Amino acid sequence: MIAAAYLAVAGIAMQFLVGYPVTAGAVAAVFGPGVAALLVWRLPARPARVAVVATTAVALLATGVAAAIGSRLPDRLDHSGHAAHGVPGVSVADLRGPSRAPTRTFTLTARAATVSLPSGTTVDAWTFNGQVPGPELRVTKGDLVEVTLRNELPDIGVTLHWHGYDVPAGEDGVAGVTQDAVPPGGTFTYRFEAKDAGSYWYHSHEMSSAAVRKGLYGTLVVVPDALGPAETDIGLPVHRFDSGVMLFGGSDQREIRDVPEGRRVRLRLINTDNGAHRVSIGGTPYTVTAIDGRDLNGPTVLTAETTLRLPAGGRYDVGFTMPAGAVHVMVDGRESDGLLLGSGAMPAHPAGSDLDITRYGTPAPGPFDRYDKDFTLVLDRLIRFLDGVPAFAYTVNGEVYPNIPPLLVDRDDIVRITVVNRGTESHPMHLHGHHVLVLSRNGRPTTGSPLWMDTFDVLPGEVWQVAFRADNPGIWLDHCHNLPHAKQGMVLHVAYRGVASPFAVGRRTANHPE
Ligand code: C2O
Ligand code: CU
Repeated sequence: MIAAAYLAVAGIAMQFLVGYPVTAGAVAAVFGPGVAALLVWRLPARPARVAVVATTAVALLATGVAAAIGSRLPDRLDHSGHAAHGVPGVSVADLRGPSRAPTRTFTLTARAATVSLPSGTTVDAWTFNGQVPGPELRVTKGDLVEVTLRNELPDIGVTLHWHGYDVPAGEDGVAGVTQDAVPPGGTFTYRFEAKDAGSYWYHSHEMSSAAVRKGLYGTLVVVPDALGPAETDIGLPVHRFDSGVMLFGGSDQREIRDVPEGRRVRLRLINTDNGAHRVSIGGTPYTVTAIDGRDLNGPTVLTAETTLRLPAGGRYDVGFTMPAGAVHVMVDGRESDGLLLGSGAMPAHPAGSDLDITRYGTPAPGPFDRYDKDFTLVLDRLIRFLDGVPAFAYTVNGEVYPNIPPLLVDRDDIVRITVVNRGTESHPMHLHGHHVLVLSRNGRPTTGSPLWMDTFDVLPGEVWQVAFRADNPGIWLDHCHNLPHAKQGMVLHVAYRGVASPFAVGRRTANHPE
């Protein structure tokens, strides 16, 4: 009975301590005390029994203390790079956008402001240019975009990360990896070529779990060419503040817009929150024309019965022709707010089910016929030390940032990653600098349009297989976009061999990317 009781307790302990892959240390911590107890029971001499108890206690304590110390961030943790024979070293600081004259320039000034929302509610926010969301940056394919960031926040650093837009590494805006956080009073200028049309967003990547939620975000739209007069194109970030106040676009209550019948409408749904949101569209048939800034092949017509489950960080573009009656864009089943286009009776929102994006649209031959690198990432939740403090942390292969080994790639590698979620929460995994092609979910290959994503939501128990071409040298973050999960460990790097960073995170730096 004692043995059974011990095994039961050990089973529970394993749940919280032992991840995948299994490590000797974790197994010893769980089963060591059992072996010790057995020895104490069987050993005749009292001194021997005392010795076993003492050794076990000291070993457990030493393991714990060593793990705690080992988890403490050093003063400076840099990315001195993964040199390779024959590969000349390059610094991310030199991997910058083109230096020719910009065709579009913007200035975003980070500052604290009390913002009053359309309902009259006020929020104390961190803003770009005094507004939440920050100004929409709308450019045309082919533009050379220059954005000057100024920081007027008190005491808080800031950066601009172009979420989903695959910029050169030195423009990626990750504090401590691609630049130093811009201190109060400082500036930084970002430059990149708008070569990929689509819907993206920007946000600070310094203390991102606090900064994004408090308002340091906005929409980035690259249109393929100037809009004709018969088109309406609306960016609609879904955001949630700490207080629970929700913003859809710029409004915290139902927004009504007049759109004439017959006009082409494109809605750019963007989830800037930490969890998924469901959007449904009543009053018109529509198609999902793009996901994460990449057009879908042959999308079919959907109706109000379909819900679009937008993962944290993800974007869906929706297109339709404005009908005679009203169209209502509903978020999370609330008819009282959302966006009402046109006039007439409120359209019906019949209950329905989520669109399965892995089966939507028309297939096309895949671009990859080999894989040069294969990685597996097992996501879990385990007791680990985070910077010296024990926490029920979010782990990848049993480790937390910064101890998760980087995925080391060479330029032009075709990289396949299998992501397994062993936990009970979903993890919207976001890779910087690249779009990944979804190969399969739960072992079932995708049967719809090729699906290129920068943020894919791995639900509890799911296994996703994705692949990308390593065509953008740098040191890139790969992390859960439920940003509190990232802050609690779920961050790693995809590092190109031969690329180093002069920037660092750590206690003696001002950089705290999450
Ligand atoms: Cu939207 Cu690493 O970020
Ligand atoms: Cu997560």
